[in-house]
Amino acid sequence: MPGSLTVDFAPFADIAAAGPGGAEDGASLLVVFAGEDLAFGARTAQTLAPARNALERAAKASKFKGKSGSSLDLLAPQGLGWDRLVVLGCARKAEDGKAPEPPDYVAMGGMAAGKFNGAGRASVLFDLPTAPADAPGAAADFALGATLRAYKFNLYRTKKNEDADKDTSVDLTIAAADAAAARAAWPARQAIADGVVLSRNLVNEPPNVLYPEEFANRARELEALGVSVEIFDKKAMTDLGMGALLGVGQGSVRESRMVVMRWNGAKAPGEPVAFIGKGVCFDTGGISIKPAGGMEDMKGDMAGAACVVGLMHALAARKAKVNAIGAIGLVENMPDGAAQRPGDIVKSMSGQTIEIVNTDAEGRLVLADVLWYVQDKYKPKFMVDLATLTGAILVALGQEYAGLFSNNDELAARLAEAGKETGEKVWRMPLGPAYDKMIDSKFADMKNTGGRHGGSITAAQFLQRYVEKTPWAHLDIAGTGMGSPAGDINQSWGSGWGVRLLDRLVKDFYEG
Ligand code: BES
Ligand code: MN
Ligand code: ZN
Repeated sequence: MPGSLTVDFAPFADIAAAGPGGAEDGASLLVVFAGEDLAFGARTAQTLAPARNALERAAKASKFKGKSGSSLDLLAPQGLGWDRLVVLGCARKAEDGKAPEPPDYVAMGGMAAGKFNGAGRASVLFDLPTAPADAPGAAADFALGATLRAYKFNLYRTKKNEDADKDTSVDLTIAAADAAAARAAWPARQAIADGVVLSRNLVNEPPNVLYPEEFANRARELEALGVSVEIFDKKAMTDLGMGALLGVGQGSVRESRMVVMRWNGAKAPGEPVAFIGKGVCFDTGGISIKPAGGMEDMKGDMAGAACVVGLMHALAARKAKVNAIGAIGLVENMPDGAAQRPGDIVKSMSGQTIEIVNTDAEGRLVLADVLWYVQDKYKPKFMVDLATLTGAILVALGQEYAGLFSNNDELAARLAEAGKETGEKVWRMPLGPAYDKMIDSKFADMKNTGGRHGGSITAAQFLQRYVEKTPWAHLDIAGTGMGSPAGDINQSWGSGWGVRLLDRLVKDFYEG
């Protein structure tokens, strides 16, 4: 089971008076914050008064200065009711001339949860010396970060693993100056956390469990939140003329699906925003088969689709005031007697023909038909697609940034902005006619690869041939969607990358 964390908020007075309570399962832990040279907020100083001397000695002995990102982890000194005490540094140095960056509460929540280490209960005295304690949403952001950090995908373990299964259940109480405001701010953050968790679960699931039909069933569960979910089977997609998508899936015994999710949260009907995801439930490469080493990672080749489902969950669960479409193309790319061959020519729903030169460049084929369908049917305000599209984006950007390609400067700038806010960063890459020419074909309107050079760009050029005037952005998340290095708020292989980014894009620019 995913590591479970229950979140609650309390006024300062309650936590100081009540102390740790009885932690039946594991130790109790108090988390506090310190600024430069052990500067504490007033409440923290008061609570720690009985332990002040011991604390100062401990800080000195371990050279803890309160720097952001550092921490002090102690057996709680005598006089404090808790078993353990963790002091999180929150002092940020200003870069010359500039004001110090505001605290990243989400990351701090993650760091705190990283210290739980088997605690059954954790109390947080949310009283920062460096910032107003009542910064709106700060305590709820902290809880969001802690929740994301605590996530674990243990669904398939039948034996207890002492290290991996630590902290599977923690009661977290955050004491805040305005507990009522924090509690009121939590459900919207929880909606986002649940969306990220859903997305991570989908990416982590093995490909024998999560094939296109089952993925569609999982998406259908969003109906419980008021999302309308439409599922297209092979017959329905054949009738629509989706030869590009269907060609990819034809070698698999698992039938392809397309799922369209609609959330109508705006007051008035009107142009929706649209999100499109690549959902290759497993990518063997097909007849252009991939090498065996690391092929198991290709169960995550549906991370774009997983993000779209997680995002739709988040938007619906927090009742976002927006009309949004989420559309995903679900296929399995397998070698088989019935599989697509290099040299085949397929016809996409747009009418354009494609020469398949490499069956491993399948994601763009899936997206071509889904992009076209969404644009044609819904005339959206914009389309953002997410896809684990190319290994080349890992070569270019590593796992820090997702590649951003766009035909629209405003949309690109907004995504970059949302990326800075959430830490899910994007880096814009070029598009242009010279790159576009690289996918011209001798036999059809285009071919499905442009060769090794600029591989992520020619993939994006391919997608752009299915976009007319609609503002569009493509996010290549092959580097960020899975296998990312462990961080403050993510220790999971499937990262759920993009849910927070796109939720923020909607919230900051397209609601109300
Ligand atoms: N799903 C892969 C891209 C990928 C690679 C995602 C590594 C995550 C990690 C995609 O379908 C693919 O195979 N792309 C090929 C394109 C090539 C054949 C033009 C690639 O990147 O090698
Ligand atoms: Mn592939
Ligand atoms: Zn792929």
